[in-house]
Amino acid sequence: MSLWGGRFQQGSSDMFRQVNDSLPFDRILVKQDITGSIVWSRAIAAAGVLTVAEQQEIENALNELLALAESNELDFDASPEEDIHSFIEAALIEKLGDLGRKLHTGRSRNDQVATDFRLWCKEHIEFLIKDLVNAKTSLVKLADKFKLAILPGYTHLQRAQPVRFPHWCLAYVEMLKRDISRLEDLQQRMNQSPLGCGALAGTTYPIDRQLIAEQLGFASPCVNSLDAVSDRDYVLELMFCASTSMMHLSRLAEDLIFFNSGEASFIRLGDQVTSGSSLMPQKKNPDALELMRGKCGRVFGSLQALLVTMKGLPLAYNKDMQEDKEGAFDAVNQWHICLCIACEVLDSVELDVDRCAEAAKQGYANATELADYLVAKGVPFRTAHDISGQVVLKALEENKPIEDLPLTTLQTFSPLIDNDVYPVLQLEYLVDKRNIVGGTGVEPVSIALQNELDQL
Ligand code: ARG
Repeated sequence: MSLWGGRFQQGSSDMFRQVNDSLPFDRILVKQDITGSIVWSRAIAAAGVLTVAEQQEIENALNELLALAESNELDFDASPEEDIHSFIEAALIEKLGDLGRKLHTGRSRNDQVATDFRLWCKEHIEFLIKDLVNAKTSLVKLADKFKLAILPGYTHLQRAQPVRFPHWCLAYVEMLKRDISRLEDLQQRMNQSPLGCGALAGTTYPIDRQLIAEQLGFASPCVNSLDAVSDRDYVLELMFCASTSMMHLSRLAEDLIFFNSGEASFIRLGDQVTSGSSLMPQKKNPDALELMRGKCGRVFGSLQALLVTMKGLPLAYNKDMQEDKEGAFDAVNQWHICLCIACEVLDSVELDVDRCAEAAKQGYANATELADYLVAKGVPFRTAHDISGQVVLKALEENKPIEDLPLTTLQTFSPLIDNDVYPVLQLEYLVDKRNIVGGTGVEPVSIALQNELDQL
């Protein structure tokens, strides 16, 4: 049965139904739709459209439908209805007859879908914040487990300067904290209720939109009815939050994939988050991490798709906007899955502390320290830089780290070099000297780690 029956003499074609029907995917909004309908029935009862008894009957019937929705007993597949809104209305009419036909008074599917989707996004933002907090917790625990380890830091994927392992973990913690705060900002901005805006122009019935907003858990009603029914900014923002956070997860995955490679071998991943090869028995592949990286494509795609869908739309509602849902449902689901698997991967990481330290020592990361040592003895920095470069060349020739060159050799480059140079060239020394706020020295890193531990 179609909702617009009276004006039409012919039914829809099968192909039209295929392109037009959204029930196959907007059924996800069933609970939000029923909640919205319950609140709407109260609003029109207060406006005199329903008696107290009628409203109660409608609310009871909707609650029965809600119970069926919660136990997955609603048969969507057998339904001829176009979307979730008409499905619930039809189910109500089936239960209550003509009384059910009163519910849609003063309401439109345009303000209904805007309300349902906002409610869905609001709820999912709460779940996602929890997921992000869990991922943050896993990173902080990993940092704490290997709090004194040192590993090479990279620029251009070349060993650059060594860093404390927790410093690396806490870099991602900062990203996750921003991901959380972006969602919290969005929660504030989208906290308005579209219900009561009707098709586009509001409704003639004297309904209390502030009360509706409060009953639905929104702070206030949307201010402009045209905007309320055609705004999907909150979905776009959620997709942007998802995309940015997935980008962070992808970089985390990329780092870990490299750390796990045969070439680096800094970490081992748990069997539970890796897979073997059907051909090569020795392989243990970081599939979970690769999927965290790979799923970025579809999540970023959902943001781009909705931006393009929205860009040319005149006010107010257009059916194009029905295309807002599938990408968003998928992106939120994939983001959730990736945050959960990130926790499992991180909890399984075993760090090879000795191998990390060994790698951190290679690459002449202490050449700058040697130059600074000479500066402290009165050599101008440019000259010191040059001397240190010559020492690196010599060490390279001998295939040794600088600190393995004997003092006599070092002194051929500068007589100012003495035995006190050796402690300066030690790995811990050069890491921990970077003890300013935000640096990788053991002092600022321990403080930062403790701050995070205190918040768990
Ligand atoms: N299924 C529609 C959607 O998701 C609901 C709104 C339909 N409104 C309309 N005027 N046809 O956008």
